[in-house]
Amino acid sequence: MKQIKKAVFPVAGMGTRFLPATKANPKEMLPVVDKPLIQYAAEEAVAAGIETLIFVTGRNKRSIEDHFDTAYELERELEERNKDKMLKIVREILPPSVDCVFIRQSEALGLGHAVLCAKPVVGDEPFAVILADDLIGFANKPVLSQMVDVYNYQHCSVLGVEEVPMEDVQSYGVVDAKLSADRVYEVNGIVEKPPQAEAPSNLAVVGRYILTPKLFDLLETQERGAGNEIQLTDAIARLLDEQRVLAYNFEGKRFDCGNKLGYLQAQVEFALAHDEVGAEFREYLSTLDIQSFDMMSAQAANSW
Ligand code: G1P
Repeated sequence: MKQIKKAVFPVAGMGTRFLPATKANPKEMLPVVDKPLIQYAAEEAVAAGIETLIFVTGRNKRSIEDHFDTAYELERELEERNKDKMLKIVREILPPSVDCVFIRQSEALGLGHAVLCAKPVVGDEPFAVILADDLIGFANKPVLSQMVDVYNYQHCSVLGVEEVPMEDVQSYGVVDAKLSADRVYEVNGIVEKPPQAEAPSNLAVVGRYILTPKLFDLLETQERGAGNEIQLTDAIARLLDEQRVLAYNFEGKRFDCGNKLGYLQAQVEFALAHDEVGAEFREYLSTLDIQSFDMMSAQAANSW
């Protein structure tokens, strides 16, 4: 059985919900406390045994390449100033054994198309897909590691899912699935962004996939779907005609950092849990009179 050694990170999206912050910077570089979203995603992959990180990039994504590359000038300067702790942080973004590959998605044709762009590097192996804007906090084991455990036992595609409020299903890929073991569901169908009345359940796919290479063949002939885009979900729906697919209701807390509210929630909770600033931040929050707080509202709005 082939192990999961490669992970695909589609990072070519425009991040329009965060304009102007994402005008010149990719949304995956937005920090939560002190690490960009893409680094949390890369760390999750590495923890799950991934050896090759494949970033499918678009315009404006150079800073992602720079982030995972050696920063000679910065390292030299930190060395000269004896800033050993900082130097260690900068040098240890990824373990030396992990390779990064960058592929350019020339046209933004959708998530399915972005994943297909990784085919030449993934080849004939099962692989993971991580959407960095779904940041998932965990107490015991990172989510992708949990999913790799399911894959190693069941040897088929595994989709990370969670229950969402019924009124939110139209933002997700939603599965028709039957519980078969603890947290594990047999998937019978999947549909991209269904209207609430047509959704098969409220089990939504959130940004974590383990997929068999058969999916690439299906993506090659996949027609455009929701939003006139080539959807990963639609190819998974066709995969179900040929192979077993499982959904896994992971243990962890997911923050939708693709929208402002989810991002702010992640920021607060990760800050509260942070080694360096957590205790002081907790103290600070407790001093805020949240109900009557309006000091910054004028500044947050566009002032001219
Ligand atoms: C994508 C997928 C969708 C999935 C979601 C998870 O949608 O197409 O199936 O549920 O990610 O975050 P997007 O959020 O890019 O519209």
